[in-house]
Amino acid sequence: MTHAAVTGWGKCLPPSVLTNADLATFLETDDEWIVSRTGIRERRISHVRLEDLAYVAARRALAAAGLDPEAVELIVFGTCSFDDQVPNQASGLQLRLGAKRAASLDVNTACTSFLYALSTANALIRTGVVRNAVVLGGEVISTFMDWSNRGVAVLFGDGCAAVVLEATDREEGVLAEKLGCDAEARSTLVIQGMGGRYADFQRRYGLTDWVFEGPEIFKRAVMGMSGACAEVLAARGLTAADIDLVIPHQANLRIIEAVAKRSGLPMEQVFVNVHRYGNMSAATVPVALVEALEAGRVTPHSTLLLPAFGAGLTWCAHLLRWGDRVTPKGEADVELPACDRTALQLVQALIAKSRGG
Ligand code: UT7
Repeated sequence: MTHAAVTGWGKCLPPSVLTNADLATFLETDDEWIVSRTGIRERRISHVRLEDLAYVAARRALAAAGLDPEAVELIVFGTCSFDDQVPNQASGLQLRLGAKRAASLDVNTACTSFLYALSTANALIRTGVVRNAVVLGGEVISTFMDWSNRGVAVLFGDGCAAVVLEATDREEGVLAEKLGCDAEARSTLVIQGMGGRYADFQRRYGLTDWVFEGPEIFKRAVMGMSGACAEVLAARGLTAADIDLVIPHQANLRIIEAVAKRSGLPMEQVFVNVHRYGNMSAATVPVALVEALEAGRVTPHSTLLLPAFGAGLTWCAHLLRWGDRVTPKGEADVELPACDRTALQLVQALIAKSRGG
C-alpha cells in the first residue's frame, strides 16, 4: 500500500519582532495581561507578501528533501490570507519555484488549513494521482488585522512553513486523521471585510472588523481538539503513552495545556512556541514541526500527534509516523529581502493605510 512520507521541511519567519510592549504603545493592554491569558510574548510582522515567505519556506523544504522543483507534482497551500484570491496562492508559488509539472490548489479552513492541506495531499498521493507534494501553511494576517481591537491584535502573527511529501511503501506519514467542523458556531469568529459580501461597502484594503468571541472559541477549541485526539488514537488502537511528541496548533498556551490535560498527555511531551510567534493561524503547526526537528525533539520513527482548530469552527487531529531521517539532505541558498523597518513601524504603516493615509 502507498503511503506519503514527510521527506522535507522548511520555515520562513519574517525578521521584525512585535513585542507586547510595542502593542501597549497604541492599545490599552500590557505584557502581564497578554502573557497570563495567552502565553504570547512576541510575534512577527511581515514586510513582504505571503508568496515571498512561501517561496523561501518551500525552497528550504525541497532542499531538505533533495527534490528538484521541476519534479514537484502538487502544491497545496493552506492559508486564509491570500495575496490574491484569483489567481490562487499556490499558482504564484508554482511560478516562482519553476515547478512546471505541478497542479496547484489552495485550502482555506483558517487555522487548520495546513492540516487540511496535508490530508488533501496525503489522499492524492495514496490514491496514486500524484507521487509527491509540497504542502504549506502560511499567513500574513497583519494586513487583515483590526489594529484598534486589543481583543485580537495581541494574538496573531505572520509566518510560513512547508513540508514535502513523497510516496513510499513504508508505513510513514499520516497514520490516521480526523477532520470536523462545528459550523453552528461559525459566527463566533468572523473577519468582516474579507470576502465578496463586503465588495460594495467600499471598505479600504486592510480595514476589517473582527467578530471574535474568545471564551466561546476557547471552550469549543479544547473540546474539538481533545475529541479529535481521542478519535485518532482509538483508530490505531493507541493511547497517550504511545505518543512521542504532540505538536498542536499554537493559539493560546492555556488552550494547549487544557487539551494536554484532557488527553492525558504530560506537557513535557508537547512542543510549544506560541510565546515567540503568537497565533500564526495555518502556519503554527508546520513552523512548530520544523522547530521541533531543529531542536532534536523529533526522533527517527517517532509517532507525532497534531491537533488544531480554527474559524469555521474547523477542528482536526493527525497522527504522523516519522521516517529514518531527521536531518535535511541539503540547504537552500535563499533568504528574504532585508527589512529596514521595525515591526512597530510596519504596523503603524498598516494603521495609517487603513485610515486612508
Ligand atoms: O486559532 C483560532 C483563534 N481563536 C482563538 O485562539 C481564541 C481562543 N480564545 C482565547 O484564546 C481567549 O479567550 C482570549 C485570549 C481571546 C481571551 O482570554 P480570556 O481569558 O477568555 O479573556 P476574556 O475574553 O474573558 O476577557 C477578560 C477581560 C475583559 O475585560 P472585562 O470585561 O473583564 O472588564 C476584556 O475586555 O480582559 C479584557 N481584555 C484585555 N485586557 C487587556 C481583552 N483583551 C485584552 C487585552 N489587554 N489585549
